[in-house]
Amino acid sequence: MLDGSPQELRTVWLEGDTVRMIDQRALPSAVRILELNDVEDVARAIEGMAIRGAPAIGAAAAYGLALAEIRGMDLGRAAARLRRTRPTGHDLFAAIDRVLREVEDGKTAREAAEAYARDDIERCRAIGRHGKRLIKDGMRILTHCNAGALATVDVGTVMAPLTAAKEAGREFFVYASETRPYLQGSRLTAWELGNAGIDHAIVVDAAAGLLLQRGEVDLVLVGADRIAANGDTANKIGTYPKAVLAKTHGVPFYVAAPMTTVDFGARTGRAIPIEERAEDEVLTIAGVPVAPKGSRARNFAFDVTPARYITGFITDLGVLKPADLRARRKKR
Ligand code: MRU
Repeated sequence: MLDGSPQELRTVWLEGDTVRMIDQRALPSAVRILELNDVEDVARAIEGMAIRGAPAIGAAAAYGLALAEIRGMDLGRAAARLRRTRPTGHDLFAAIDRVLREVEDGKTAREAAEAYARDDIERCRAIGRHGKRLIKDGMRILTHCNAGALATVDVGTVMAPLTAAKEAGREFFVYASETRPYLQGSRLTAWELGNAGIDHAIVVDAAAGLLLQRGEVDLVLVGADRIAANGDTANKIGTYPKAVLAKTHGVPFYVAAPMTTVDFGARTGRAIPIEERAEDEVLTIAGVPVAPKGSRARNFAFDVTPARYITGFITDLGVLKPADLRARRKKR
């Protein structure tokens, strides 16, 4: 915590000629600020999970292009490097495309990046306004991974309706699933819920079945990394089983995400690339081996939830059904 007021910090920002960001690997033990001086630093911070969460990665890439401009580096080359960092989250690509487009139209990359970051905050606030009505007094909500302020520039996606409902005086309870192997749920979401004064408990990822079977969850609310035009949604590995369980037990399953996460170029979830990360993240915990020497691991970072399991999308444009997304694609 910084003077007891962590909310005053953004996840990522440009200060003078340096990009600064909260190093999410150090949370919740310490709030450490990284200073990044060039595009390579930003690319490595994204690859190494110092910053993560689809919208936050997008903003980091936008600021990375601003740094490239400041250092006199070719923007095309900088963009190509940033595009290679993480394949699944769509905001990364949307942010890079937008900054390059605006530079062509005469803005500086710095201006374009600042505008992107400001808009990201506004998109999240709009998600909060639209989603607030879904959070009722006494509800028990299950979430996965981290889709709070740390996963965006500020405010968050899942966290936006939760904080809006809390500010409106509603009392509810959140189960944060811990999210192996990176523990975004226990390290980051629980930290943010605590800072917001929201009652919560951490559960292991495998507890979702029990909780839903016992009728102890009224709403499942998750973020998204890429939403295909038909509504199929990639999010942190372990999201899909929660969606199937929610449907089995008649519990609504909502995805909170800005429209920058929707990839109208991907017709279905089959077109979404799934990142596979290093084996070590599964084979060790905090550097300590937790598997026999010689055992291999597969470390899939995301899964895809088919649209038929999704009750609705809480977006900056309102609460949409998968069919609304399909209609929007046709219009485009
Ligand atoms: O691997 P991560 O931590 O970048 O994965 C993040 C998620 O899956 C989030 O749920 C998603 O990006 C939504 S963030 C508002």
